[in-house]
Amino acid sequence: MTNNKNLAKAFTNKNDEYYTRLVDIESELSHYKNQFKGKIVLCNCDDPYESNFFKYFAMNFNVLGLKKLISTCYAGSPIITEQLSLFDIKGLVINKKQERNPYKIEITEVNDLNGDGAIDLSDVEYLLKNKKNTLTLLKEDGDFRSDECIELLKEADIVVTNPPFSLFNEYIAQLIEYKKQFLILGNPNSIHYKNIFPLVQNNKIWIGYKTMGSDMYFIIPEKYKQDLLKNNKEGSGYKTIDGEIYGRSRAIWFTNLDVSKRHENLILYKKFKENDYCKYENYDAIEISSVSDIPVDYYEKLGVPDNFLEFYNPKQFKIIGYGRGDFIDDIKTVPIKFLDDYHKIGGKGHVTSGMKTLCFYTKEGIPKFPYSRIIVQLMKDEEIEENGN
Ligand SMILES: C[S@@+](CC[C@H](N)C(=O)[O-])C[C@H]1O[C@@H](n2cnc3c(N)ncnc32)[C@H](O)[C@@H]1O
Repeated sequence: MTNNKNLAKAFTNKNDEYYTRLVDIESELSHYKNQFKGKIVLCNCDDPYESNFFKYFAMNFNVLGLKKLISTCYAGSPIITEQLSLFDIKGLVINKKQERNPYKIEITEVNDLNGDGAIDLSDVEYLLKNKKNTLTLLKEDGDFRSDECIELLKEADIVVTNPPFSLFNEYIAQLIEYKKQFLILGNPNSIHYKNIFPLVQNNKIWIGYKTMGSDMYFIIPEKYKQDLLKNNKEGSGYKTIDGEIYGRSRAIWFTNLDVSKRHENLILYKKFKENDYCKYENYDAIEISSVSDIPVDYYEKLGVPDNFLEFYNPKQFKIIGYGRGDFIDDIKTVPIKFLDDYHKIGGKGHVTSGMKTLCFYTKEGIPKFPYSRIIVQLMKDEEIEENGN
């Protein structure tokens, strides 16, 4: 593929070129420090010259007690060629033809300049002056699915990155296939994907510490900035922080590393009173619009919003499924009368009678389609013991 085509392709998937700020990486990673000791970390969507993931792990190599850090970059990245021309590394010859080749950097030693376990210098050239660290051109294009990147994946213990949003499904599937530990950024809506939700339901992946509702701001290529300034409003598509324009996106961390809050019970205090809760018209469960409304003494099915996952302890609740007909068989289609009532009050959502989507009347008799619901059930003590929890 020519470079122009590569660029065009990358620009059509803008979120694929949203680069993570160091402050956001530090904030999340601060919770997992004791899980990295002696581990090989792979950042496989990360140009070491640009990636703050690489920078974070290089800077904290000794503090975390890492065994090795591997970072690979991708030929399709619009920034890779800008950076390669900066190379002036002894023994590495990059001719004009090879200039577009992606590379990997492997770090096994970071000299601790002042003996405090941390380094300020995350500079790649500095790291490569150490003979124990290497930069090698890749034979393929650095795609995380390429054979040589898969070999690196096999070698790694933990993968940490912000992968291309457009390939998120495939990216997660590969991590699961190779049984890797990981901490990666992704769009919160990915939990509704057919191949992601079962992983959440079966406790193969969960979300990290950052809350689901909070925005994230990303470093973006210059071209996108102009585009965002022209077509978006401050606060919606972008945000200016200290005079710099950052792309705004909803993102959360997906992981299978241990997250301490998963071991804490959600404190429930409301007693169930039938009059306080609405039942779905087409599924046997009650509607919960806010996690704080979950009753302490109700052991039947509940439809809860996505942010329940922030509080989910698998020893307290079980996840039955995602509240849509293509995930749960016994959700019935939206009743015709309900749909009529919905249209009568001016409801504009794109819903038809053939759809298997949850619906309920509020206590005031207003027909509603909740945006997104996960079906869960509070476990009784006996059940927790039976499950060996
Ligand atoms: C969302 S950006 C994040 C970059 C970096 N991980 C960070 O957080 O700053 C995703 C990166 O993945 C790269 N990428 C896109 N497709 C890829 C692929 N198939 N294999 C590996 N990397 C890819 C993009 O060029 C881009 O640099």
